[in-house]
Amino acid sequence: VTFLKGSVSMSTLPPPDRGEVAFIGRSNVGKSSLVNMICNRKALAYTSKRPGKTREFNFFSVNDKVDIMKEVKYGDEVRGVKDFDCFYIVDLPGFGFAKVSREQKDEWSKFQKEYFESRKNLRVVFHLIDSRHGLVSEDERIMKECSEIFKGKKDVSYVIILTKADKNDSTGRGKVSKTVMESVRNAMRENGVGSRPIITTSAETKYGRDGVWTYLKEAFNG
Ligand code: GTP
Ligand code: MG
Repeated sequence: VTFLKGSVSMSTLPPPDRGEVAFIGRSNVGKSSLVNMICNRKALAYTSKRPGKTREFNFFSVNDKVDIMKEVKYGDEVRGVKDFDCFYIVDLPGFGFAKVSREQKDEWSKFQKEYFESRKNLRVVFHLIDSRHGLVSEDERIMKECSEIFKGKKDVSYVIILTKADKNDSTGRGKVSKTVMESVRNAMRENGVGSRPIITTSAETKYGRDGVWTYLKEAFNG
């Protein structure tokens, strides 16, 4: 995995020549940390104790130009075929951070909406929510927006991730309170997302890594 570029407008996005997954959510919720966790890297995406670290749409390129041989069965015969498992991971600036100017916030949210609506190679949008606190009002707004935009896009999955599970339960088993879980499920129902799996993660213990990878595989092969 390598860092490719940061973009602040539709016209500077990399060409949509492969699948892409995006990580969105409130500032400080753990988007950049999760990108590092799933890539098995410590500081690929920059993280910070203070909210407002990520300021651009940061593109990471996975398996760029690596041709992976895959075994495929043709009748009784097993052949090696090339499998282009390359895709982009996009780490977005967080919303809801007080110290960012009104203008900057509006610009990011406009760009984010435009990106959701028109990015052709988008396969998965992961919406991260802090497992200790549940949704804030901005989360509900984004959830509704995603639900409306992706309703007509069958090739995009919208997936909720509850982060920082280690802070609820030091054994690292991804415990989340019933209250938070129910409030997230209610919000999904109310905002037209429907019922679908919720992934719980910890960037500290690496809990939930496989759950995220299940969806990342949807981005393979464009
Ligand atoms: P912005 O770039 O500001 O939008 O924030 P972000 O969502 O990218 O958050 P980031 O990954 O920078 O993490 C914010 C803080 O939370 C950092 O201090 C991280 O170390 C911490 N953090 C992130 N994920 C976890 C986690 O799973 N467990 C624990 N204990 N801390 C975490
Ligand atoms: Mg970040």
